[in-house]
Amino acid sequence: MSADPLEIHLDERDLARSLREDVRAGLTANPKWLPPKWFYDARGSELFEEITRLPEYYPTRAERAALVRHAARIAEVTEAKTLIELGSGSSEKTRLLLDALSDQGTLGTFAPLDVSVSALRQSTATLAADYPRLRVRGIVGDFTRHLDRLPTGGRRLVAFLGGTIGNLLPDERAAFLGAMRAALETGDWLLLGTDLVKDPAIIVPAYDDAAGVTAEFDRNVLRVVNRELGADFVPEKFRHVAHWDAEREWIEMRLRAQRPMRVRVLDLTVDFAEGEDLRTEVSAKFRPDGVAAELAAAGFTAEEFWTDPDGLFGLTLARAC
Ligand code: SAH
Ligand code: AVI
Repeated sequence: MSADPLEIHLDERDLARSLREDVRAGLTANPKWLPPKWFYDARGSELFEEITRLPEYYPTRAERAALVRHAARIAEVTEAKTLIELGSGSSEKTRLLLDALSDQGTLGTFAPLDVSVSALRQSTATLAADYPRLRVRGIVGDFTRHLDRLPTGGRRLVAFLGGTIGNLLPDERAAFLGAMRAALETGDWLLLGTDLVKDPAIIVPAYDDAAGVTAEFDRNVLRVVNRELGADFVPEKFRHVAHWDAEREWIEMRLRAQRPMRVRVLDLTVDFAEGEDLRTEVSAKFRPDGVAAELAAAGFTAEEFWTDPDGLFGLTLARAC
């Protein structure tokens, strides 16, 4: 079966408006910031895939190892008819869930949702070819805004993998989980991937690899702003920094100005002092009891929790209660 045409809940105009709002808010703030969702144009999505293959970037391999061990159990417990994936990217690891749910014979629809049209086009075409019995409904949308547009009916399992929930700030996370619960029926399932707190000597290199791929990914946000809003950032004049915040237990990716710079974007003149940082992403690391507590506060019961054999990455299977 070919994939359904992409359902577009975020068109070029919405994206441009939302980018303008974020740039205005983030670049006039002190300290300056930009939200991480703007990394993912076609190039950014490719760079992320490259990151997942780096020796230092353990989360993808670890989550895959946890899925290999537990996908059959997830299929058995959830008996999902519809699998929805948020921030799906290439959906590579998700194949383990698709296989397990297909083997069990319950799955009819796979609905990946992502802001990246290029990633979705590619993933839905390949998945529809590889899983001819499945209906593949790609949704172009923002998981912080469009959870009310998810497919309804049947037993649903929403997968939010990769640790992407850690890219939301704590208040955004609570709002996201609340909206997620409101979008689900009691008894629906959420499978949540969370990177776990561990020695920063393991975490920091994952965000500052020797080959410089993460640095390119980080600077890509400036290229997106230049292209979409006609800004005049010189990305090469910003150094990529991965900072471990031990108190908040998160990594901050930052772009540090290598000299004083004046950037023009929209109607703004944005000045950077030498050494000034622009925060481009937080990537929170979690503790199992913290994940369960955040889920409970939003109306979910964490029913099962697994990790990969090395205990690096967590998978929580939670039920909407
Ligand atoms: N789930 C995949 C990809 C993770 S990369 C994995 O585990 O490997 C994060 C993905 O989330 C990217 O594909 C990006 O385009 C998407 N994304 C980031 N912010 C988003 C948002 N607000 N709404 C929807 N998708 C988003
Ligand atoms: C998508 N997200 C979970 C990745 C992470 O690890 O926080 C994004 C990323 N940033 C740098 N490397 C990868």
